[in-house]
Order: sequence, then C-alpha cells, then structure tokens
Amino acid sequence: MTTTPTARPKTFKIGGELEINRLGFGAMRITGPGIWGEPEDPEAARQLLRRTVELGVNFIDTADAYGPDTSEILIREALHPYAEGLVIATKGGNTRQGPNRWAPVGRPEYLRQAVELSLRKLKLDRIDLWQLHRIDPKVPRDEQFGVIRELQDEGKIRFVGLSEVTVEEIEAARKIVDVVTVQNLYNLSNRQSEAVLDYTAQHNIGFIPWFPLATGNLAREGGVLDSIARKLQATPSQVALAWLLKRSPNIIPIPGTSSIKHFEENQKAADLELSDEDFAAIQRLLE
Ligand SMILES: NC(=O)c1ccc[n+]([C@@H]2O[C@H](COP(=O)([O-])OP(=O)(O)OC[C@H]3O[C@@H](n4cnc5c(N)ncnc54)[C@H](OP(=O)(O)O)[C@@H]3O)[C@@H](O)[C@H]2O)c1
Repeated sequence: MTTTPTARPKTFKIGGELEINRLGFGAMRITGPGIWGEPEDPEAARQLLRRTVELGVNFIDTADAYGPDTSEILIREALHPYAEGLVIATKGGNTRQGPNRWAPVGRPEYLRQAVELSLRKLKLDRIDLWQLHRIDPKVPRDEQFGVIRELQDEGKIRFVGLSEVTVEEIEAARKIVDVVTVQNLYNLSNRQSEAVLDYTAQHNIGFIPWFPLATGNLAREGGVLDSIARKLQATPSQVALAWLLKRSPNIIPIPGTSSIKHFEENQKAADLELSDEDFAAIQRLLE
C-alpha cells in the first residue's frame, strides 16, 4: 500500500504537553544477550546513554523487563539527576523467565508493584510516560486499565501508553484512561500496524514504532536500502529512520543500539530530509 508522506516536524508533544525531539533512543539493547542480565561492559552502556543526551535525545524508551531491571538501573546510574525536559518512558506488565523469554502478567497488584519498583529504580517521584507492555489475556483488560488509571490519579504516572495493541483495544482502554502513545512493531519491511498508525495520527496519539530498523536488517550495508542510501549520501539506517519520520508527524522512532558509533550514525537521520519522490521510491523497494 502506498502512503502519502507528510510534513516533518522535529518535535512531538506527548499528551499535548511534553515536547520531545522525535528521534528517541531505545534502551533495550544495553543489557546482556537475550535482553537478559548485565551487559558485558556496563560503563560503555552508561557512556552511550550519556552520549544520547549530549546529542539532543530527550526521549528514552525502556522497560522493567529489559534485563529485567538492568536497563532502568543503568539509565539512573548514567543520567540521574535527569536533565530538564528528558522524558524517560518505561513499561511494565511483561515478566521474564530467562534470555529471550517473555510472559505478560497483568494482575492489578502486579502492575502496581511494577510502577512502584520502576519509580524506585529510576529514582523518580512520577513516571512521565508509563506503558502497559502487553495486555494480559488472562486478566480482564478493564482491571488492567483501571489500576493504571488509579496510579495516574495518585500522581505516580503522568501519561499512559499501550504496547502491541489493536484499534479496538485502544478504544476500550480510552474509555477508562487517557492513552497518549501506542508502541507497536512497525518499520519499512513490516507495516502490519498501518491501521493503528492511522488511528493514532487521527487522535494525536504518539506512535512509537518498535524494531524501527527491523532489528538491524534495514541498517545492513549491502541490504535493500544500500543503493538509495548512497544516492542520498546517507547510510541505510538513516534512510529507514528518515522514512519513518516522514511517514507521519506522530511517529517517534526509538532505534536501539549498544554502540556509540551506530547511535551517532542513526541520530543524523533527524537531519535527512527525503523528497516525496525518494519517500515513494524507498517504500516501493520494500513492497
Ligand atoms: N514494546 C515492545 O514490545 C518492544 C519490543 C522490542 C523493542 N522495543 C523497543 O524498541 C527499541 C528498538 O528496537 P530494537 O532495538 O529491538 O530494534 P531496532 O532498533 O530495529 O534494531 C536494533 C538492532 O540494530 C542494530 N543497529 C542499530 N543501529 C545500527 C546501525 N547504524 N548499523 C548497523 N546496525 C545497527 C543494533 O545492533 P548494535 O547494538 O550492534 O548497534 C541492534 O541489534 C528497543 O530498544 C526497545 O526500547 C519495544
């Protein structure tokens, strides 16, 4: 399906209030292999986090499940006290049983614990954006949305997001709690969430595409974006991210990396303006 590109603002206001630069950072890759445990070099991970902020990133996506705990703790160690305007978006509701193993748990008392522990690990009084990592199919969803609403009313969460949801689920959640972001799998080579993206754009809900680089496949030299990248004097990862930034003004990509070099390369996508023709040509390459 061909989509029409849009104007490309540099920033997005989460919940209409928290203004962030649209190219954020995904902090899932700073843990050990399989998103499990400590990274090989924790100081290198802290240096990478500091570099993201130095280069203008003010939206960092993490989750209690990354490690678990490791990513949130590294963020606190590297960046606390936090710079004015830095938004740390975390998540809860996904549990871990080992490397690459994930299982949703959405019992209200567990979600409450997740928020309390994220506040402690991140050393915050209030989480700017807390996302329900997955709706637990074993627990009535309204109970999950209800406790999130309570935590928001208590001032522990400022804004609420959802992850990996359908339009129907977003609408069900919005009857109970204001939803300001949705984080779904979306990139040039996997656009199964087009309907959700369009819905969020219509309702001024931020859309945070996870796997924006298709876990690195779109960043590969010699890959499908190689020749167009050379024509644009850019790299494949920059082309993939610039395409997302132009796709819709509510998209907030959060490319993940464990490498300062890759981060610096990806960050330059913020300045890569694609023409409408390039946008369409890039999309055709993946159709
Ligand atoms: N809500 C959810 O359920 C969910 C699920 C998955 C992820 N997420 C979030 O989305 C973020 C992004 O996803 P992701 O990190 O899994 O995937 P991604 O951003 O699509 O790709 C990351 C992979 O690409 C490689 N890479 C990054 N920049 C590169 C470059 N310039 N050149 C070559 N390779 C490059 C990285 O390896 P190196 O480390 O070697 O650079 C890493 O293996 C995560 O960090 C996390 O915050 C959310």
